[in-house]
Amino acid sequence: MAAPRSERARLLTSTGDDGKDRCDDLERGARVDDGARTTAARRTGWAKTSAVCALVIGAVGACAVAVSIGSTTEADGGRFAQTAALGENRFASGGRTRPVCSREHPGYSAPYVGLYENIGEWPESYLRWDLKCAEKRKGEAELGKLYVPTKNYRRPNQKEINEFMRAWSASFGRAYEVPPNGKKKGIEIKDSSPMVYDFVHVPKAGGTYFTELMIRANDAIGEKHGYPYKLRDAPFSNFVTLPLIDATQQNAHATLDAFKKGQPEQYFSKKGLQEKYDKGQRMFVKGQFGMGMCDAVEAPCMYFTVLRDPVERYLSHYKYSCLAGAEGKAQWTEEWIKLGNCPLDPIEFMTHLGINLDWTVELAPGAKNGDLHRTADVAKQNLDSKCMRYLITEHYADGLQKVTKSFPDFSDAVRRLHLANGNAENKAKKLPPPAQERFDAYMKNATIMKAIRERHALMQGVYDHALKNYEANWNRPIVPC
Ligand SMILES: *[C@@H]1O[C@H](CO)[C@@H](O)[C@H](O)[C@H]1NC(C)=O
Repeated sequence: MAAPRSERARLLTSTGDDGKDRCDDLERGARVDDGARTTAARRTGWAKTSAVCALVIGAVGACAVAVSIGSTTEADGGRFAQTAALGENRFASGGRTRPVCSREHPGYSAPYVGLYENIGEWPESYLRWDLKCAEKRKGEAELGKLYVPTKNYRRPNQKEINEFMRAWSASFGRAYEVPPNGKKKGIEIKDSSPMVYDFVHVPKAGGTYFTELMIRANDAIGEKHGYPYKLRDAPFSNFVTLPLIDATQQNAHATLDAFKKGQPEQYFSKKGLQEKYDKGQRMFVKGQFGMGMCDAVEAPCMYFTVLRDPVERYLSHYKYSCLAGAEGKAQWTEEWIKLGNCPLDPIEFMTHLGINLDWTVELAPGAKNGDLHRTADVAKQNLDSKCMRYLITEHYADGLQKVTKSFPDFSDAVRRLHLANGNAENKAKKLPPPAQERFDAYMKNATIMKAIRERHALMQGVYDHALKNYEANWNRPIVPC
């Protein structure tokens, strides 16, 4: 049964990933930031952001089904991945629309509708005033002022992102190589299923959709086997990726430390992990800075990532962060805000992004002197490791099918995400006409296009390598590291 024509047409014609990326930032009220996505939806507040985010992935399930019978859905997959927008509280599964209300703080709801019924109380910074939870407490709306959603959280600016990336990379000492054949762990792997799924999120590549899958897998496993940690306990309570484990700039070091030291013991020690693994529990790590973390994990651990055509990815980033000034121009400098636009052309914006342009660093941090040739070589090698799996944005539907088939922990995630998004529509904003005109002119400018391609040559090599080895790499046995 192939995807109905109308659905496939929808996939092919829906808006580019600017909608997705915008929604990236709306994830649970914009709590998740991976660096390159630089903006602060936070400024606009949760209530507003949640209303903006819309979804276009009604055809996810259909798409995956079409792949399973061998139809050509590559184009569909690519388009839909690009439009796979993220929702937050608007996700409803199984038709449920009631939020999960906090017991401790009546009148407040937790993120996600229809998910995480039994995960327990969320940190206060995640709670929001919600009339649906407030029926019994009429007249007490002032409660809504109790909690400041952001607490200490602020999105890093470009300079801070680059400083972090440089220091993080340097901390490896030399280009980090994922063990090519995996590594024997203190805890034996069972049923070809790792305990820890470490998703290295390359920004602007369709990783948000994968995050949403992990969120559903995490919910399904948690509801069935119990959740592996309490959201209000340290270090989790500070995470900006809850209920997933944080490998973003905000907490990558804290997470790594916890695994390295095995602290707090009940969660991160070998014994703690063993008990949880034996119960069937899993951990899902998400962030731009998760590479290398499996080394510190005593339990079976695997890396995942999603890659996208480098030039396409860059153009999307440029459009979104520069031209569109997304999320209240949060990524714009003071100067651009005064000016009323981001004046950089795509060449200048590459320079502005600096090291953060090079997502290969996320796959292979640590090369001496920031050597990008070495980084690219090791990135290819890391992608080929037996304990790593990757999806390709342009073949997303196929990738989802591979994930579902290879990892029973994800068996139902695609279907559930499809259900949740079934009725959503795409409200992604288009660029305002002057910005679109600028963009179109740049696209016709040979000097600019040539410069972009040249600057992305090494990344292109990594992407091409990944494409070439994609099937072979998925066909290898599952080995943890
Ligand atoms: C192409 O872009 C370059 C760099 O921004 C600029 O100097 C040049 O004038 C542009 N060419 C055309 C034909 O617009």
